[in-house]
Amino acid sequence: MSPTVAAQEKVAHAAFQKLTISIQTTSNPLRAIRIRYYQDSDAQVVRTLFKTALCDGPDSARYHLCRSELKTLRAIGSLALFILGIGLYISSSALQTQLAAYLFIVMGTVPFSIYFARTYAAFMAFVNGSINGPDMVDVPKSYGMIRGPNSDLIPYGKNAFWVAEAYSLEDPSSVEVVGCVGLDISTSAGDDNAELRRLAVSENYRGNGIARSLIIALMTHARENGLKSVYLRTSSSNIGALRAYKKMGWVVEQEFVEFKNMFTHVLNLEVANSVL
Ligand SMILES: CC(C)(COP(=O)(O)OP(=O)(O)OC[C@H]1O[C@@H](n2cnc3c(N)ncnc32)[C@H](O)[C@@H]1OP(=O)(O)O)[C@@H](O)C(=O)NCCC(=O)NCCS
Repeated sequence: MSPTVAAQEKVAHAAFQKLTISIQTTSNPLRAIRIRYYQDSDAQVVRTLFKTALCDGPDSARYHLCRSELKTLRAIGSLALFILGIGLYISSSALQTQLAAYLFIVMGTVPFSIYFARTYAAFMAFVNGSINGPDMVDVPKSYGMIRGPNSDLIPYGKNAFWVAEAYSLEDPSSVEVVGCVGLDISTSAGDDNAELRRLAVSENYRGNGIARSLIIALMTHARENGLKSVYLRTSSSNIGALRAYKKMGWVVEQEFVEFKNMFTHVLNLEVANSVL
């Protein structure tokens, strides 16, 4: 074992001891949570977790995106044309009125349906692009994890990737990965600022402090590796995540439109100011 790997293994082991904090979940008091470093066996589950966190349930980005599109002037105008068409269709059987009714119905449904389908497809392309992107396809390489002497993956530098594991207090072998987060310095300009990426918690386990625990592990690592700040990018359709980040101390530094009528927010947290 090289001295560098041995030293890193020692640090990683100490960090792991700190990460093994138990939270008993509210939904199932017999399940507890521990935070650990990403391992090869997590590859598929982490990608699925990230995708379902963005797409499923009433607090997902996909739900909020679709909902916001249905509240636009374009949607309201289309609905008005459709209702007008139905009204005309019912009001008279005269050929001219019927033709006008068909025209309004088509104008009220077809353009908006095409627009909505394209928006939806663009969002799904973004999600699929994320989970098939280089960092998710090869987490150890992108997040600087190397194999320690006991063959577990451990972080080698400022980057790292963590998962939250729910396990049964009655049967510790019943384990499920329910959350993840990564820290990536490669996307930032300097070497004292890194990006928080891929935060996701399984829907059934939300509200138990799992994201906070993952972020505490990340901030501890950032502090120990001399990082001054941790930034992240999120969309206004990630309403819950945006609120959670703000509650945990992140401050919005930039906002711009990147996708449809959604804002991308860039948030930053100074490590020295963080209580996490
Ligand atoms: C955002 C998310 C990670 C939060 O996970 P979680 O485990 O439920 O969060 P926690 O229980 O650790 O909560 C941490 C803090 O955020 C707050 N919070 C969490 N979800 C929130 C929500 N939907 N609305 C408002 N505040 C919220 C909590 O109240 C808590 O603050 P407090 O400790 O001051 O009370 C989870 O909802 C998720 O996976 N969302 C979908 C994926 C996503 O949007 N990821 C971000 C991509 S950029």
